[in-house]
Amino acid sequence: MGFYSEDIISEIRSSTDIVEIISQYVSLQKRGDSYVGLCPFHSEKTPSFYVSPEKQLFYCFGCGAGGNVFTFLMKKENLKFPEAVRLLADRLNITLPSSEYDKNVSQAFRQKREQLRLNKMAQDYYHNILLNTKEGIRGLEYLKKRGITLETVERFRLGYAPPLWDGLIRHFRSMGVDLETLVKIGLAIAKKNGKGFYDRFRDRIMFPIEDATKNVIGFGGRIIGPGEPKYLNSPESPVFSKGENLYAISAIKKNPEMEIIVVEGYMDCISLHQSGFTQTVASLGTALTRMQAKLLKNYTGSVILAYDTDSAGQAATLRGMEILAKEGLNVKVLRLPEAKDPDEFIRKKGAEALRQQLSEALYHIDYKLYLAKKGVDIAAPAGKIKYIKMALKILSEIGNEVEREVYIQKVASELNIPVKALKDEIKKNRFPDNGLKYKKSPRRDNNKEFSKILPVTGAYKAERMIIKLLIENEEARQKVVENLVPSNFLNEKTRKIADLLFEMIRSKKDVKANEVFDHLDQDTSSELSGILMANLDFQGEGMIDSLIEKIKENYLKHAINQVRAQIQKAEAVGEREETTILLNTYQKLKSQMNELKATRNAEKGGV
Ligand code: UTP
Ligand code: MN
Repeated sequence: MGFYSEDIISEIRSSTDIVEIISQYVSLQKRGDSYVGLCPFHSEKTPSFYVSPEKQLFYCFGCGAGGNVFTFLMKKENLKFPEAVRLLADRLNITLPSSEYDKNVSQAFRQKREQLRLNKMAQDYYHNILLNTKEGIRGLEYLKKRGITLETVERFRLGYAPPLWDGLIRHFRSMGVDLETLVKIGLAIAKKNGKGFYDRFRDRIMFPIEDATKNVIGFGGRIIGPGEPKYLNSPESPVFSKGENLYAISAIKKNPEMEIIVVEGYMDCISLHQSGFTQTVASLGTALTRMQAKLLKNYTGSVILAYDTDSAGQAATLRGMEILAKEGLNVKVLRLPEAKDPDEFIRKKGAEALRQQLSEALYHIDYKLYLAKKGVDIAAPAGKIKYIKMALKILSEIGNEVEREVYIQKVASELNIPVKALKDEIKKNRFPDNGLKYKKSPRRDNNKEFSKILPVTGAYKAERMIIKLLIENEEARQKVVENLVPSNFLNEKTRKIADLLFEMIRSKKDVKANEVFDHLDQDTSSELSGILMANLDFQGEGMIDSLIEKIKENYLKHAINQVRAQIQKAEAVGEREETTILLNTYQKLKSQMNELKATRNAEKGGV
């Protein structure tokens, strides 16, 4: 880990009971060998969050979050690993060796906690003013005028910043808070003359911004009267970074099948929630970032973009689509006739109309074709040619071969022109220098892609079982290490775990499940926790062989397909040298596959 020795970390771990620590956050009930409660990482009504005292790990069967006690604190308290170690050590009164680094870490960590605490207090302050004071009436009236109900005010903890220069400051001063910290999180601003501070947010409706674990990390404030800017946001701070968060992410349910709607504005977001579209987040006005796309990917496989209909919104949609698709998300785009944004649409036409539009949202490629066609008369030859040119550009940019094929067919039949004509044009587009040079395109990088979109297949299950065996069954270890390599694991997460376990086994280290977690990122920790919590029906030695075989076969199958596709591409552009090398690899893989099959047949024949 670098910062603390393994000895100290395992001392902390062995003096800690995960049930006791998690109980401080979640009310747990004993059920069988485990404890069960409502998951603190997603909202649910029936408990699917399990803590195992025996394995010292937690796992949520609802959202898939899991790990050991450190992972829990990292997730819940938004900490880095050494910070979580420090927090537990403090609670256990274990003195950590204090290096310069430690001091910085613990100081930064204490400051972050304090900043989050003050944000929470500010949220309560603004919320209370809105609901329970005379000044608040102005805010409530504004919200009412915009159709926002009290229930929504509660749900999003909306507030009101009174039109005072020192309302918040006086409130915090009376509670003995260090005002410099308020400046750091942007709630107060230091006066230019150096004498004192004033409130940043005045006469504004306050939207608290929470991170995924419900920490209040910042605010957006909408002006009530006329004035600039319309929305004022918390500045970047140690706890708030706009491009890494999404408004209302803490309200989202994790479900790969359930689409998440991404809107531009705070008002769009709460208005959609209020109408029952509770899988909605807002990208906080910025163009969608890669970090935000990654965040979304933790919750879903599909996103519907519902940005404003003006030209800025349309440009943001086109950029957002690319970013989301690149992260492997399925992206659709909502169209909103006769409205400037989703909030206005729902207020004009109602929830049912929005539901209808959502069901007609266009897949991102269709959306591009739709934009290209807009205002062009494809019945006339000139219009048709104009559209073909734009369509060709769109088609040639499609990275996925199958997808491109499908859309070529679609456009060809729509315009009633031969598929071949389109394909020839696309080839020119994709390889402009006439095939002399292999054009680098995102298509070549499909190695990553297939591990990401790998469905839960038999092989994936086998990979999970092997991981479980490696940890729980000593006899299995040598056999697995001798017969597989980590890259045989096609799933990204099981591969990461295998990497670590193989390394531990090869260096003759003891394999302790609980230690493995400390070296994994959060998603991979969750995966491992799920694997360890699953029941495995171990059926003796023979099962290990068939699992190894399954993984190998699956690996070879994928590798063969991939190399075959690469050969076709290389041949198409006349890359002779590359073709030869690839053919060689292909032969090798093929013969490995034949060997595997032969062994299996021999085994079968022998019985
Ligand atoms: P909009 O102007 O579309 O906001 O900006 P909206 O949510 O529809 O607001 P209403 O309906 O007029 O009240 C979209 C988002 O861009 C950011 C905010 O996050 C806003 O919700 N924005 C906009 C700012 O940060 N500052 C601004 O001055 C304007
Ligand atoms: Mn808007």
